[in-house]
Amino acid sequence: MKTEYKFSIVVGLLAMVAMTVVACSSTKGNYTDVPNDEVAETEFKLEKSGAQLWGETCNRCHIAPSPSDYNDTDWETISLHMRIRANLTEHESKKIEEFLKSAN
Ligand code: HEC
Repeated sequence: MKTEYKFSIVVGLLAMVAMTVVACSSTKGNYTDVPNDEVAETEFKLEKSGAQLWGETCNRCHIAPSPSDYNDTDWETISLHMRIRANLTEHESKKIEEFLKSAN
């Protein structure tokens, strides 16, 4: 076998190894990207709605008042008051308030 021929076989093998490494590393990159997107989506879906939070929170100390019991202005005041009583975050409190206002 000629030396040139041997050399081209070695170059060819090295190229194959290099392509395999590149192919594997790019697959790995895609693989980690996909679950991250799915996790973000799942967290988004798991967030409770205002109606759910109202049902779970506002029943703890007294019977949860129905949305139609008060008008929008009253709900704003009550939400501030009950946010402190129920130890809610501003975000949770706003969601409950929006639900109560949308359903009264
Ligand atoms: C930790 C207990 C607790 C939780 C949880 C709670 N409340 Fe109250 N709520 C009270 C108490 C106690 C009163 C009586 C007034 C007072 O002493 O603050 C009251 C009074 C009220 C009143 C009468 C008007 C007023 O502002 O006093 C409304 C309406 C009300 N709550 C709505 C809600 C809603 C809506 C939620 C859910 C976001 C809620 N409550 C969650 C304890 C609670």
